[in-house]
Amino acid sequence: MKGKILVTGGTGYIGSHTVVELQQAGYEVVIIDNLSNSNIDVLDGIERITGVRPVFVKGDCTDIATLRRLFEENPGIDGIINFAASKAVNESVQKPILYYRNNLGTLLNLLELMPEYGVKGIVFSSSCTVYGEPDANPITEEAPIKKATSPYGNTKQISEEIIQDVVRSGSPIKSIILRYFNPIGAHPSAEIGELPNGVPQNLVPFITQAAIGVRKELSVFGDDYNTPDGSCIRDFIYVVDLAKAHVTAMARMLEDKGEGPVEIFNLGTGRGASVLELINTFEQKTGVKVPHKIVGRREGDIEKIWANPKRANEVLGWTADTPLDVTLQSAWDWQCRLRERGVM
Ligand code: UD1
Repeated sequence: MKGKILVTGGTGYIGSHTVVELQQAGYEVVIIDNLSNSNIDVLDGIERITGVRPVFVKGDCTDIATLRRLFEENPGIDGIINFAASKAVNESVQKPILYYRNNLGTLLNLLELMPEYGVKGIVFSSSCTVYGEPDANPITEEAPIKKATSPYGNTKQISEEIIQDVVRSGSPIKSIILRYFNPIGAHPSAEIGELPNGVPQNLVPFITQAAIGVRKELSVFGDDYNTPDGSCIRDFIYVVDLAKAHVTAMARMLEDKGEGPVEIFNLGTGRGASVLELINTFEQKTGVKVPHKIVGRREGDIEKIWANPKRANEVLGWTADTPLDVTLQSAWDWQCRLRERGVM
């Protein structure tokens, strides 16, 4: 075994894909998840792919006593990957206290307990949302942080600052902050994937649900942006590529290879694709139509953003190279699997 890793939020979308990659790379995994936005069956999917069922603790990371018990019962945790967080932008505007409590409370508890239990490093899930509307694309890690437009976005900015402050105070820990662009797709086995609660807020789950007929039609939020086809541009990254970056980041911390105690990396492909391009690519690759109509802009949307992933490419030796059509096919395969299983 290479080491024991605690994955908070490990039954969630990005968490579950990362657990698979960690296990396949030889790490032992302990998951904690309160199942607020995921399902216990995800463990079966992970086991079917890797042959190993990770240790699972149902619990809330905002409760420090629960975490303490976890560390006592699972001694020798070397690193943490922290996915446990609420992530719906709109909901965060309605329920700011929930978002600040969940997202910041979890991080504070983990940072407090790490030195006590000898945990060396923490990988933190941040977001390109910290850049706001970029002055120029592709965007590097040096670009200015813009004022957050939602409590969700603010929790990511504050979390990054909390990590920096704690390390600066002399805490003997390391951290790698990963700023994700737009993760999409599902594991090639179609054993795990994204399963949002209720009506999807994010683009790709809505596309696949509209394509299979669970939703009547996709609303494309705006075609009057200053982009070639008028729809917004994002950097869509395959979730399995993203998951692999966490394994690389963890190894880097555990092997003391970092250039400093806190490192920040953009995780994106370096290519922007528009919402309409994505729909076209999906239709061409899968041969399935996505019923859609153009509607007005969604408040708070960024016009265009894509990553300069050079630092992650060169320093981590990691690249997101799965083509967009392959990624979209995986999202479709997962949607079809959910249908087979009668989930939706
Ligand atoms: C949003 C958040 C981001 C967060 C991510 C996680 C903002 C500005 N960004 O990303 O911080 O990390 O969610 O969930 O809020 N679209 C449609 N129709 C739909 C859904 C989406 O046209 O039904 C369009 C959006 O207008 C956008 C693009 O698709 O242009 C991507 O949207 P989405 O998947 O929600 O991601 P972001 O808004 O980029």
